Amino acid sequence: MAEILGLGITHQPPLGAGEGIRPRSLMTTLKDPGLPAHLRDPANWPARMRKEWGQDEGATHAREHQAEIAIELRKIRAALDAFNPDAVIAFGDDHFENFKDDIVPPFSVLAYEKIEFKPWEKAPNNYWNEPADKLFTVPGHKAAGKYLAKGLLEQSFDVAYAYRPLHTPAGHAFRNTVMYMDWDRKGFPYPLIPVVVNCYGRTLVHYSGYLGKVGETLTEEQLDPPSPSPARCFDLGVAIARTMSASPWRTAIIATSSWSHAFLTEKTYHLYPDHEADLALFEALKVGDYETWRKRSLAEVEDSGQHEMLNWYCMIGAMAELKRKPDYAKYIESSVMNSNKVFATFREA
Ligand SMILES: [Fe+2]
Repeated sequence: MAEILGLGITHQPPLGAGEGIRPRSLMTTLKDPGLPAHLRDPANWPARMRKEWGQDEGATHAREHQAEIAIELRKIRAALDAFNPDAVIAFGDDHFENFKDDIVPPFSVLAYEKIEFKPWEKAPNNYWNEPADKLFTVPGHKAAGKYLAKGLLEQSFDVAYAYRPLHTPAGHAFRNTVMYMDWDRKGFPYPLIPVVVNCYGRTLVHYSGYLGKVGETLTEEQLDPPSPSPARCFDLGVAIARTMSASPWRTAIIATSSWSHAFLTEKTYHLYPDHEADLALFEALKVGDYETWRKRSLAEVEDSGQHEMLNWYCMIGAMAELKRKPDYAKYIESSVMNSNKVFATFREA
């Protein structure tokens, strides 16, 4: 049996920003005409959020948040290096990047030979001061990707697969997974198999990668078909653990994404994430109470702005199948930086 390592990180794009890192999505929300007038005034925000906003519109908090996350990313990278995998499966969302209105698979295994991308081409400000045309080349693993798709299909899990990109060489989730797992720029030598999860479901095509306004309600006609359910994502992870355990490849399975996103939840008028829902799932995660995760409905996930956590559901399903609890789990809260982040390792005892 091949060994499996489970990991969890964030791929939040603003964390790769340089000196000018700021709570940009909150600043956008503050200009949203749908935001109730009294909530434009920080005096009416929860105390924790006011403190983060401070006297400099959250600039100090943003830098501290980034620094705190870099520490966690280094820990996760150390676990990955110690494991030294033959292949890395990463679950990530596609925000109208590789999959547009020409096809939207619920799940897709990207069995590429290699992955090449220029992360700073469109937004050159970056923490590493890398040039806008800096090219990253990461090995893919076509053989293991094909094996994975075959194994899933044989378990009646009808996944899509691809040998080459459609609209973009690598979406934000996968670019940032590589960027962040290589925070110290020593290279990312591990063959990557992205598994795309349609996390944005009912609003994916309608918004075409943009965000909804505060209080906006879409009609049934405007809405797209849904994401796969949390339970289905969980079960995909179960099937992946079975497949890769029986494979010749030592595999790291990474969930990439922040948890509740402020800009996706109406519960808080897009101002801050659903801390309560995130903490409940984190407490369950720590003790390996995966039933609490599995029974959560898609509607509950979406109400909490936890759409991208479907990536975590896939990884958690794999850990449940392996009867693995996290040996390390860290929760980093932020109201003004749009989302809470969790970092976790699930090493074999
Ligand atoms: Fe994302």
